[in-house]
Amino acid sequence: MIRNTRPDPNQLVTIAVTSGKGGVGKTNVSINLGVALARLRHRVAVLDADFGLGNVDVMLGLAPTWHLGHVLAGEKTIDEILVAGPLGVKIIPAGSGMQQLTALSPTHWARLGRAIEHLGDAFDYLIVDTGAGVSDNVLDAARLGDRVLVVTSLDPSAVVDAYAVIKLLSAADPGREIGVLVNNARDLIEAQLVFAQLEVAARRFLKRRLTNYGFIAHDPSVREAMLVQRPIVDHLPQSAASRGFRILATRLAGMDGPHGAGLRLVASAQFAASAAAPEPPRCA
Ligand SMILES: Nc1ncnc2c1ncn2[C@@H]1O[C@H](COP(=O)(O)OP(=O)(O)O)[C@@H](O)[C@H]1O
Ligand SMILES: [Mg+2]
Repeated sequence: MIRNTRPDPNQLVTIAVTSGKGGVGKTNVSINLGVALARLRHRVAVLDADFGLGNVDVMLGLAPTWHLGHVLAGEKTIDEILVAGPLGVKIIPAGSGMQQLTALSPTHWARLGRAIEHLGDAFDYLIVDTGAGVSDNVLDAARLGDRVLVVTSLDPSAVVDAYAVIKLLSAADPGREIGVLVNNARDLIEAQLVFAQLEVAARRFLKRRLTNYGFIAHDPSVREAMLVQRPIVDHLPQSAASRGFRILATRLAGMDGPHGAGLRLVASAQFAASAAAPEPPRCA
């Protein structure tokens, strides 16, 4: 089987997908990034970490019997709850409407950590789809990732909330790479402006750089694919959003290990061309 090269092919790369504001497209990104990585012949699992409100399974038309709640309760192993999704991507369902999953205990986190370690043998990438916001559950779930992708739309309140999450993640772990993905953008210029706003604020107030993961276009086909419960990269591969997911997956797969600088170079080159220094978000 042809595989993309990475320094250690046995190392599981965990990518957490998070946001400040809800409804910015995290679950859609998690699923489609997962499927796009699978198309590049990587072994991919998507962990639904929107505990208690998970909907990865619903978006894929799956009806799992077991979910993460059973793993955290010690009733099932993670292998026993894996569900086959599109293109061989395995889904780890979160369960829905479960009060006890809304605030995980240290024992739960330890169990989840061990379960993820166990996945390292079977997968190249684990995408962690988190809930939105700045609750402990969401921040802890985001910190499961070697890489964290903060998704934002152009909406000013989404940008301000993205900055709030970046600030908290940064405080919790100053060395962690934090990336930004702009979803629902009209074009590259619009997306660059949003990234630059966040980056200016992060440099000025947090004294750190952000990684630019690019953008996914606003595309009515996303809704069309959602209505038939299929990933857009599989259902409508020629759409603008699908192109964006393929570019994102190719960039990620080309990065040299979990903390490589490959993408940062791309980001710097892109922004060398952009002259105007935008205003940082208000909450900096
Ligand atoms: N690039 C896009 N273009 C058009 N609609 C989108 C796009 N990304 C997401 N959406 C829509 O936004 C809504 C929220 O997406 P979802 O992935 O559930 O967000 P979240 O997981 O952040 O709550 C969905 O109805 C989805 O169809
Ligand atoms: Mg979601």
